Amino acid sequence: MPKPKAKSPAQSSEIRKHYYLDRYVIIAPGRNLRPDSFSHQGDAHKIVPTLEGPFDFVLLDADKQGQVDYFKKLFPTKLTPGALLVAHNAIELKDMMEDYLKLIGNHPEFETVILSLTMQDGFAVSYRSRKPAG
Ligand SMILES: C[S@@+](CC[C@H](N)C(=O)[O-])C[C@H]1O[C@@H](n2cnc3c(N)ncnc32)[C@H](O)[C@@H]1O
Repeated sequence: MPKPKAKSPAQSSEIRKHYYLDRYVIIAPGRNLRPDSFSHQGDAHKIVPTLEGPFDFVLLDADKQGQVDYFKKLFPTKLTPGALLVAHNAIELKDMMEDYLKLIGNHPEFETVILSLTMQDGFAVSYRSRKPAG
């Protein structure tokens, strides 16, 4: 197999500029996160409106029926154009997330795919267009 060509410094920094995520929020409290990774404790529905943002990556993995409310608190001002919004359990708990999946799946500013990681479950991965709809 041919060895991939080394990238020039200019190309590398271009890549870093496009893919480095420096503004993100994880709305996913739980046992697999180290306690010191929490900068906020309490009801995420009350905390999200207080976060400054805007964010270019958001993971939604708290209460599944709360996704629409989180979305309304994040969009439009707290999500950058080009942001990724990722919601866990979009297959296994799709019934609980039905309203959210409909909303994001039909939203004119988002492209959404359901990414299956196992046969049972996966993520709704939504990309916010860099150009406003309309
Ligand atoms: C699916 S689990 C998250 C699992 C986590 N990603 C992990 O790997 O450990 C959902 C968590 O969100 C918490 N949660 C549910 N509703 C919440 C809310 N409104 N505010 C804060 N946490 C909430 C639950 O108590 C539970 O710990």
